[in-house]
Amino acid sequence: NGGGKGGRGALIVLEGLDRSGKSSQCARLLSFLEGKGCATEGWRFPDRDTSVGKMISAYLANESQLDDRTIHLLFSANRWEKRSLMESKLLGGTTLVVDRYSYSGVAFSAAKGLDIGWCKAPEVGLLAPDLVIYLDVQPEKAAERGGYGGERYERVEFQKRVAEHYHSLRDLTWKVVDGSLPMETVEEQLRELAMNCISECQDKHLTNLTW
Ligand code: TMP
Ligand code: MG
Repeated sequence: NGGGKGGRGALIVLEGLDRSGKSSQCARLLSFLEGKGCATEGWRFPDRDTSVGKMISAYLANESQLDDRTIHLLFSANRWEKRSLMESKLLGGTTLVVDRYSYSGVAFSAAKGLDIGWCKAPEVGLLAPDLVIYLDVQPEKAAERGGYGGERYERVEFQKRVAEHYHSLRDLTWKVVDGSLPMETVEEQLRELAMNCISECQDKHLTNLTW
């Protein structure tokens, strides 16, 4: 915890469309924080290593078919199965930089036409992030970056609908960063947001998502 004594770690979430640069920025932020001597771990959802995560991964690779609500609940279950570890890491002073969280869960499922309220319900009670950074990139621009891996959801028309739902989920606590800026500029903004968050959350209790 950056040399602080006994403070808890921060729960920092990065959100954005596929190819918005989240994963690269998470890695850069992680090594920056580690360099500062801050106890930090990089997490991501879906966590494809668990048995639930393997089902999700097969679905995304189009190797299995699942009903829309079923896969939604699996994504949520994948967060629930990590909740207690997440809590103990944070209370133990480790900051978590998390690539996607409940907002992905809601935005992607709602983009299929599922009711937003229904999508939010299973997320209630998961840990609330201290900071949500949304990497804002136009769907067309993200698609132009190439490297859509051919997974389910990696189509520009679908990503446009996801972007609209992300937009409706934004609240005052979100920090929107222009993801089309040069990588180093984005990186610099994330560093500042993360450092402020880590020092501010030391005296704040962990809370649950309410929605
Ligand atoms: P990834 O590319 O970050 O590994 O995520 C895989 C896909 O899963 C991505 O298109 C976003 C989607 N997704 C959901 O639909 N619901 C969720 O809860 C999460 C975490 C991701
Ligand atoms: Mg992806």
